[in-house]
Amino acid sequence: MKPAVKVTITGAAGHIGYALVFRIASGAMFGQEQPVILRLLEIPQSMSALSGVRMELEDCAFPLLHDIVTTDDAAIGFRDSDYAILVGAKPRSKGMERKDLITENAKIFSHQGRAINDHASRDVRVVVVGNPANTNALIAAANAPDLDRSQFTAMTRLDHNRALGQLANKTNTLVADISRMTIWGNHSLTQYPHIDHCLVDGKPALDLVTQDWAVDHFIPRIQRRGAEIIEARGLSSAASAADAVVDHVHDWALGTPEDDWVSMSVHSDGSYGIDEGVVFSYPVTCKAGKYEIVQGLDLDEFSVSRLKASEDELLGERAIIQELLP
Ligand code: NAD
Ligand code: LMR
Repeated sequence: MKPAVKVTITGAAGHIGYALVFRIASGAMFGQEQPVILRLLEIPQSMSALSGVRMELEDCAFPLLHDIVTTDDAAIGFRDSDYAILVGAKPRSKGMERKDLITENAKIFSHQGRAINDHASRDVRVVVVGNPANTNALIAAANAPDLDRSQFTAMTRLDHNRALGQLANKTNTLVADISRMTIWGNHSLTQYPHIDHCLVDGKPALDLVTQDWAVDHFIPRIQRRGAEIIEARGLSSAASAADAVVDHVHDWALGTPEDDWVSMSVHSDGSYGIDEGVVFSYPVTCKAGKYEIVQGLDLDEFSVSRLKASEDELLGERAIIQELLP
């Protein structure tokens, strides 16, 4: 049997954590041949709840789960970690935007970036989920000078999956029939869900839906989906967020399908004219644990203006947390 992969999950006793840890332990993230060790990191006030999560994990008797570590000490939580999933942070409530969380949550990611730098595997791969996720990933990476910034990503896979679901509903097709969906930009109201390159059953999506539908219905629906869920549930998305984490890490580790791509927020390398100082959602392909930004996609004037709006927002967020970027 392969050696176990060590996966650290912060905020493991929270709503997303509770939906996530059982799926990782069941093999959904790395497949049925890959054992895992879960390292669950919480704050002291949530350690009692975390002990309950641990008991339930034990009670599931997952064959692939080789060990569980629960701790409120980041040095222990990130020790030798191969994957670090940074969920632990405050969620927004009704009427807030995700960036309103920035002052409360940002410091968590500078501390955890340093702890990852000092204790995790040199090959660790990090995905930031806690909001505002893109800027928190920028902070974490900046505080981990011994690691490459390409090891730090933020999650826009939930937006990507939401976009697949809405387009499948509209075209009366299956999600599995749709490829080449893209979310550009920030995990925020300025994100740009984009179907111009999308194929449905191998045909251009724009043969099946109109640009007016995309601009007036589809784009705002995806941009506001998080708020729509908070309005309905009184709580932010949790099961769908956990599912998107599974997809994000699965594809990063094991690769994306031929002729398709996924949306991941990664450090900009200047692709599509975006400032290199932000973590931006791009279409990417993954192979053997590495991602590459898809190059050469045509963008019309409207699209370029949407990418610019999201870049401007990210530069504004960066200005607010500048002091946390050493
Ligand atoms: P939650 O309040 O249910 O759980 C958060 C957990 O994090 C709590 O158990 C808390 O004790 C823990 N925590 C707080 N600070 C911590 C720290 N420094 N170290 C370790 N653990 C810590 O919240 P939730 O619903 O699970 O959401 C978590 C975050 O994920 C929020 O910021 C939310 O906005 C964000 N989110 C992002 C996406 C996305 O698509 N990127 C989707 C959904 C939610
Ligand atoms: C989401 O997209 O559901 C999360 O980012 C939670 C939120 O605040 O919208």
